[in-house]
Amino acid sequence: MSEISAPKGVRDILPEESWKWAYVFRVFRETAEDFGYSEVHLPIFEHTELFARGIGDTTDVVEKEMYTFLDKGERSITLRPEATASMVRSYLEHRMGALPQPVKMWCTGPMFRYERPQKGRFRQFWQVDFESLGSPHPYADVEIISLSLEAFRRLGLSHLEVLINSVGCPECRPAYRKTLSDYFSSRIDELCETCRSRLERNPLRILDCKRESCRSVTEDAPAVYESLCGECRDHFDMVRAGLDGTGTPYRLDKRLVRGLDYYTKTAYEVLSGALGSQNAVCGGGRYDNLAEAIGGPHVPGVGFAAGVDRILMVMEQQECSFGTEPSIDVYGVALDRDSRAGILHILDLFRRNGISADMDFGGRSMKAQMKSASARKARLACILGESELERGTVTVKDLDSGEQKEISADSIVEEVQKILSAVKD
Ligand code: HAM
Repeated sequence: MSEISAPKGVRDILPEESWKWAYVFRVFRETAEDFGYSEVHLPIFEHTELFARGIGDTTDVVEKEMYTFLDKGERSITLRPEATASMVRSYLEHRMGALPQPVKMWCTGPMFRYERPQKGRFRQFWQVDFESLGSPHPYADVEIISLSLEAFRRLGLSHLEVLINSVGCPECRPAYRKTLSDYFSSRIDELCETCRSRLERNPLRILDCKRESCRSVTEDAPAVYESLCGECRDHFDMVRAGLDGTGTPYRLDKRLVRGLDYYTKTAYEVLSGALGSQNAVCGGGRYDNLAEAIGGPHVPGVGFAAGVDRILMVMEQQECSFGTEPSIDVYGVALDRDSRAGILHILDLFRRNGISADMDFGGRSMKAQMKSASARKARLACILGESELERGTVTVKDLDSGEQKEISADSIVEEVQKILSAVKD
């Protein structure tokens, strides 16, 4: 073990796991294609201002959780805590408003939040993030929710719960804030210290508090529906009608306000009972004023991000399939120095012909090399020694059945291809 370990809250995804991650990304990529979303690659760090203005100064993410530093040019830089603000920045910077709307994009990569690590919560975690930019239509919201659920269905996740809410818009939110603020003021003694400080600055955040004492207060808090303006109410009704029309079960949750300030109208989360307290596998919603908040024109948008680390945890727990574990076709076993050169050449031929192959270079015993072949889950071992070299042959051993035969080195590629296709059938 090295003296230096990975920092708290971050981890390595090793080969035993990484192929499962690749499977999850593959499913999201295919789902993205089926819904007409194009992949983009965005920077991992941005100007701090983007997140401060986009996500909101009074959110936990901006107040406490950002990895912010001055670069050598004295610019304040932040490792992205999420991708939505970057996606909108990119849309504006590349003038995508001139394209047919909505512009539908997705990205994946690590996000960074200085949170207290616990089960399902890391300081570096992966998201897949989908954004539909340029359409105010409630069906864009329905599409986003459907896309997330379709990806989860394809991954085999079960027992998910969809929560939805509307958080209104700048038109109707002040009235709701006032109603909430009056209500919470009347029960201020029951609130935790953090929530008391939230009362002035952002009473909606109190609805998000996970403390038992605050939750019993928020349970009776006035619901947003009664305060929604006509436009927000109609929008929400159409989102719900769209979900009903596609047979998507969901639960209305008046306390769902999400942890980021840019949301307007629809907010939603997908929860899994398999996760404990960090139970959201995905969250998202509409953010019609985010583009303006970061200095652009009005661009309505809706999207979601799903936590890949958490999806993997749920899939493991629910014993979902990850497709086939990667294995190699052939492991080359060389019994002496000359054979090692011969095997290197044969492996090269295999790889050029689409046969995956591996070997070790250590000059270890045959037994040790055969052990490596099984550890690599090879289908066949191709063994080369002095006698094979003399006869111009290679011994091919089926590692499942144990059967072996000698094949002429001249036709080794064709013969191995035949054996492998027979095995695959
Ligand atoms: P979020 O709810 O902050 O939303 O994060 C989305 C998902 O990322 C969560 O549901 C969870 O699965 C995962 N996640 C968040 N924090 C952590 C963590 N510390 N460790 C592991 N997983 C985590 C957003 O980020 C918004 N940008 C979503 C969005 C896109 N809204 C509109 N478009």
